[in-house]
Amino acid sequence: MKLIFATKNEGKVKEVIKIFDSDKIEVITMAQAGIDIDVVEDGETFEENARKKAVEIMKASGFPAIADDSGLEIDFLNGQPGVQSARFMGHDTPYDIKNNKILEMLRGVPEDKRTARFVSAVCLAMPDGRIFETRGTIEGIIGYEIKGENGFGYDPIFYKPEIGRYLADISTEEKNAISHRGKAMAKMREMVMEIL
Ligand code: IMP
Repeated sequence: MKLIFATKNEGKVKEVIKIFDSDKIEVITMAQAGIDIDVVEDGETFEENARKKAVEIMKASGFPAIADDSGLEIDFLNGQPGVQSARFMGHDTPYDIKNNKILEMLRGVPEDKRTARFVSAVCLAMPDGRIFETRGTIEGIIGYEIKGENGFGYDPIFYKPEIGRYLADISTEEKNAISHRGKAMAKMREMVMEIL
């Protein structure tokens, strides 16, 4: 079965191919399918946006399409940037600037108030109209510095106290085992195996 992954985010593609690719499932990217559509993410929830991306790309490609909508919720900022995570300070603003801004917004905030989580809502839209949805989260804190070369986005400021590491400081495999997207995609992979 071929599945198209509805994203242009290279960081996500790298993670998801590692989770999904198997004898039975081949993940193809939008670029490989020759699809260049920007889905407007105007939903109020991660679930709404994931569903919109999956359905639009399924319709455009004719393949079952899988999409993730994800983001970082920072409790001290009342859940921001949340669904706006990609657009925080502007879509094309480099992440070292965004990450420095967040560190600045949390300057002087004690560790117990720096709690945050990544959330991932995953949706699979089938050409016959069926929709499958899963969700995953990872809890952590916003650290005090930018650290690590792996991952993408806000990974360099997301500290996981249980392992004593920043998410950008662990491998893709290690991140997939504990991350919001890793968990949501693993659940989705199980669902897909059942319907194959
Ligand atoms: P979207 O799901 O493409 O709308 O964007 C999600 C945005 O949330 C990304 O562009 C990142 O800013 C952030 N984000 C989501 N997942 C992760 C992650 O695993 N690491 C770091 N940042 C993430």
